[in-house]
Amino acid sequence: MKLEDIKKIAVMGAGDMGHGIAEVALLAGYKVALRDVEQRFVDNGLRRIGESLARLMRKKRISEEARKGMMGKIETFVDLGEAVNEADFVIEATPEVMDVKKGVFQELDKSAPEHAVLASNTSSMSITEIASITRRPEKVVGMHFFNPAVVMKLVEVIKGDKTNEETMQLTHDLAARMNKVPVRVEKDSVGFIYNRIGAPSLILLGILVDRRIAAPEEIDARMKTLGMPMGPYELLDYVGLDIVYHSSLYVAERLSSEYAPPQWLREKIEAGDLGKKTGKGIYDWSKGRPVIDLSRAREEFDATDLIAVQVNEATKLLEEGVVKSPDDIDKAMIHGGRAAFGPFQLARGIGYDKLAARCEELAKEYGVAAFKPTETLKKGNI
Ligand SMILES: NC(=O)c1ccc[n+]([C@@H]2O[C@H](COP(=O)([O-])OP(=O)(O)OC[C@H]3O[C@@H](n4cnc5c(N)ncnc54)[C@H](O)[C@@H]3O)[C@@H](O)[C@H]2O)c1
Repeated sequence: MKLEDIKKIAVMGAGDMGHGIAEVALLAGYKVALRDVEQRFVDNGLRRIGESLARLMRKKRISEEARKGMMGKIETFVDLGEAVNEADFVIEATPEVMDVKKGVFQELDKSAPEHAVLASNTSSMSITEIASITRRPEKVVGMHFFNPAVVMKLVEVIKGDKTNEETMQLTHDLAARMNKVPVRVEKDSVGFIYNRIGAPSLILLGILVDRRIAAPEEIDARMKTLGMPMGPYELLDYVGLDIVYHSSLYVAERLSSEYAPPQWLREKIEAGDLGKKTGKGIYDWSKGRPVIDLSRAREEFDATDLIAVQVNEATKLLEEGVVKSPDDIDKAMIHGGRAAFGPFQLARGIGYDKLAARCEELAKEYGVAAFKPTETLKKGNI
């Protein structure tokens, strides 16, 4: 199938990601079928799309006519078979539970046209495992959007063990056609690019608080005085501590127990303090974005520590063949968050020797093997 042959996109799940992905598809001119398990969920997704398109119209990004046209191109369904019977491309955005995804893919395989590609928006789960339930594993691929899908540019295009090149290329081209920045992930590997590279930062942020080396506000104030728009702990609250917690559990199970959620994070989850979404997390969000007292900045905290562990993790992706080039990693890290520079661009400025030495020290100081510098980092010149 060629990009021009894609006319209709079906989206499974009308939640936070599903409704956003459906909107992105509408904005790119596609017909969309949105499916969820109950009418009220699809209604809610459709309402959110309507509100978001109205907002884009008020900002003069789209015309009234275009908005109306798009709202006329989306249909909602509870029945999966009806939703996908004419779909050329299906994007699944159902809960991050393997059994749910397998159930959905099994049904999709039965009901979607033979030529249709079946993509999953999973943040962490194995594409190979999801594909194994279908009779078309060569047409199953990861298409990982970031939240909010309408705003964030990165789409990780993930190759399962059996995904063929045609499917990879088509998914890549579709993401580009949707005005996104696609980055190829050549191997189905835990956390893919963006979440994997963020994982060791959480180990460090965990240790600082668990061992009472620093308070979150002291680190956030320090990073903000250095020009970061949002402190790293504030960002965890913003993303949702439950999401951070579950993702670190998943990584820990598959990579090493060092990536497990820190004690203080477990306590927040137990208390139901999940961050911005519940009004309380590491900070109080009940009156809006927390005000960080910049006078509390911890000057001794070396901001390059966070960069060092991320660059080191990024070199692991190169060594493991998950990503082909350092430029792809920089592209992913810039467009998946709102960073001005990618890890390798920063590393070239700071110096690989300095970062490798710091990783060595951090590994010793905190007793964390995951911080040990890789051979690639030690060699530098990436
Ligand atoms: N939220 C994020 O920041 C984020 C970012 C990137 C990727 N993801 C991934 O996107 C997926 C969805 O996450 P979300 O945050 O949108 O979750 P969500 O809970 O907001 O939405 C999931 C939706 O799927 C529906 N659903 C459940 N079973 C279904 C089925 N069998 N068929 C169709 N719909 C079904 C639910 O009713 C719900 O409306 C997950 O795999 C998640 O890991 C999430």
